[in-house]
Amino acid sequence: MADLYDFPEIYDERFTQAANDVYRMHYQKLFADCDIRDILDCSFGTGDLTFELCELGYSVWGSDLSAAMLEQGAKKAAQKGYDVPLTQCDFRELTRHFTRQFDCVMSTGSSLGHVDNEGVRTALRQMDALVRPGGILYLDTRNWDLELRSKKHIQFAQPFTRDDGERIHMVQVWEYPPDGTIRINVCNAYERDGRIYRQEIYEESLHPFSIELVKGTLAGLGYRDLVIKPLPYFEDRDFMDTPWYCLRARKA
Ligand SMILES: C[S@@+](CC[C@H](N)C(=O)[O-])C[C@H]1O[C@@H](n2cnc3c(N)ncnc32)[C@H](O)[C@@H]1O
Repeated sequence: MADLYDFPEIYDERFTQAANDVYRMHYQKLFADCDIRDILDCSFGTGDLTFELCELGYSVWGSDLSAAMLEQGAKKAAQKGYDVPLTQCDFRELTRHFTRQFDCVMSTGSSLGHVDNEGVRTALRQMDALVRPGGILYLDTRNWDLELRSKKHIQFAQPFTRDDGERIHMVQVWEYPPDGTIRINVCNAYERDGRIYRQEIYEESLHPFSIELVKGTLAGLGYRDLVIKPLPYFEDRDFMDTPWYCLRARKA
């Protein structure tokens, strides 16, 4: 099965300006009381979740493991007129690629689950090394504590229609292999004039991690003022009713 990140144009089909507007409002609300000028997103992908920060006036840097995703992100930055320096690197090795620090280092798009739990701890330590004293570490992720409790097998997305009339239907089929990973099969069907004319299946293999792992690692690094909110954040909800959350913490 194909790896979705080798097909950034297909990955991008899930983003619409309306969805991006929601993320802009989310960041506006979440960072309102933070003194931030420059931000590194170490899982930038093709940038949709990060470009909204440029709109809000932050100076933005990006890094990601996938050259294909960054290439697409660079094209989109150029089209939008944003200056976003991009670096290809693993978020577990940030200090090999960056010598400067940032007011905020983030990982967006539930990307940390791509590495095993020890890798998540390493990535958090690497992100911390690039956060200025008093700065912010931010991440968003699926709520793996909730997913492991509910063990869902199917997830449907609302079908959406593109400007050219094509309608895209997306279904995810989740598998739970014995090694503790979760394999998500992303099945897309493309409809035009009432007929499905193309089907694609992509696979993501993910490593669930608990919020306690994140909290414990950040506490060990001396972080405080932990804020955990739903993503996107409009109103507070019980953690176990929150399918996707973000976490913000301040470095001592
Ligand atoms: C779900 S996408 C999120 C991308 C983007 N933040 C967004 O929200 O659209 C996950 C991203 O994590 C990246 N990634 C996976 N493993 C990584 C690693 N070890 N280091 C850096 N990036 C990684 C993938 O290449 C992919 O671009």
